[in-house]
Amino acid sequence: MSLLRKKPLERAVKEARGEGEQRLRRDLSALDLTILGVGVILGTGIFVLTGTVARNMAGPAVALSFVVAAAVCACAALCYAEFASSVPVAGSAYSYSYTALGELPAWIIGWALSLELTLATAVVAVGWSGYLQSMLNSVGLHLPAALSGGDDAVLNLPAALLVLVLGAVLIVGGKLSKGVTNVLVGIKFAIVLLVIIAGLFFIDTDNYHPFVPEAQHTAKVSGLQAPVLQLLTGITPTAFGVAGILSAAAMVFFAYIGFDMVATSAEETRRPQRDLPIGIIASLVVVTVLYVAVCLVVTGMQHYSQLSVKAPLADAFTAKGHPFFATIISLGAVVGLAAVSLICFRSQSRVIFAMARDGLLPKALYKVDPKHGTPKINLVVLAVIMAALAAFMKFDVLAEMVNIGTLFAFAAVSASVLILRRTAPDLPRAFRTPWVPFIPLVSLLCCLYLMLNLQLITWVGFLVWLAVGLALYFGYGRRHSRLAEGVPDAAEQADATVS
Ligand code: ALA
Repeated sequence: MSLLRKKPLERAVKEARGEGEQRLRRDLSALDLTILGVGVILGTGIFVLTGTVARNMAGPAVALSFVVAAAVCACAALCYAEFASSVPVAGSAYSYSYTALGELPAWIIGWALSLELTLATAVVAVGWSGYLQSMLNSVGLHLPAALSGGDDAVLNLPAALLVLVLGAVLIVGGKLSKGVTNVLVGIKFAIVLLVIIAGLFFIDTDNYHPFVPEAQHTAKVSGLQAPVLQLLTGITPTAFGVAGILSAAAMVFFAYIGFDMVATSAEETRRPQRDLPIGIIASLVVVTVLYVAVCLVVTGMQHYSQLSVKAPLADAFTAKGHPFFATIISLGAVVGLAAVSLICFRSQSRVIFAMARDGLLPKALYKVDPKHGTPKINLVVLAVIMAALAAFMKFDVLAEMVNIGTLFAFAAVSASVLILRRTAPDLPRAFRTPWVPFIPLVSLLCCLYLMLNLQLITWVGFLVWLAVGLALYFGYGRRHSRLAEGVPDAAEQADATVS
């Protein structure tokens, strides 16, 4: 059953340790990982999506949607942490499933992860562009409409340029990007606190009525835009109400994406067994508290129907007559969202690096540039693809596609924890998911449920992406796989170090 051939765990770990192999430098601590986690999680989701989702799907109850999404993420995070702590290699869910489930499932998961990370880099760049423009507008500068990424624009020039610049930063080196990341994350964190604390003074409790607006049928939830679950059950698609809160949860799930990216750094972590679970769970707790607070503040400042779609946090302050705060928030968002895009980009390059190392993608993608110690070709190819996506795709379409890819990967990780507990009960696990099989099962079912709450068009896009992935696997990966070629051990490869 070559489709299910598995990479032996010892081999995966050995490759990761880099015994003679192309390897990544190990210099991240638990605190670095938490900063990395908060850095990537806290981003466009809260800065941009909050407005759209409160307006169109949930009203002030968007705070509850964030709680629902956090609960699902917490279960998935516990599974991720077990997986990450027992299979400490680059590539995240992809690498884990290669040892647990076999090559084809691993490829499919890696392919879904690539959907998540490639599009996440692009979508965050688009969100960044919205705040950049809000900031420029506040000082009287306006980008030509054709380049602004708005409804009638030809392209989103700032978003595409950001991706290209980030690609250059990553090529120059991990050290630089880590230093840059820490500063950017600090600024973003401070801005979110500013929104919460300053916003408290402008809350009008009338805006919380109704907290859960009555369910209604709107043009935004029909046809290809309808949630699949509502179509399957024959229920008339609705926005708001309880169904709206759940659909919104599937959408704001985007805001939590990132803790899995912490897991992609296992190979660069000093003590992955201990530090990864700490990093993943700590970052999730921090952002959940911030998200719920921001939602309550912003929907308290402005009636949900008035929230802006492009830059809701900043614009809420402008609406209250405080453009100064709005400018500061936009400035912080511009700086902070760049960090999110950077981390997504970096993680994607690592997943591709791992897949190419295994022979499932062309070797050039895991070639390390001797001068900078980074996978240069890999980064250049990704920069071009992501810049094109950021230039031409719309924010909410991209965001939902990111979600479906991520939810799919999380469902697979949860299933893998269950499988590995049976097939490899003695595997050393620095972190063990509590209440197995309950937590992995809840995680699996909740991820599938949230997937069903996504729009029909998103499902169509996802299935097309999977079909392309399968064609690639059967056309290339299956034959070039290092397991297929019988390459005995990665340790036989040439030496090099990546940072
Ligand atoms: N969680 C990240 C964000 O909200 C992807 O931007």
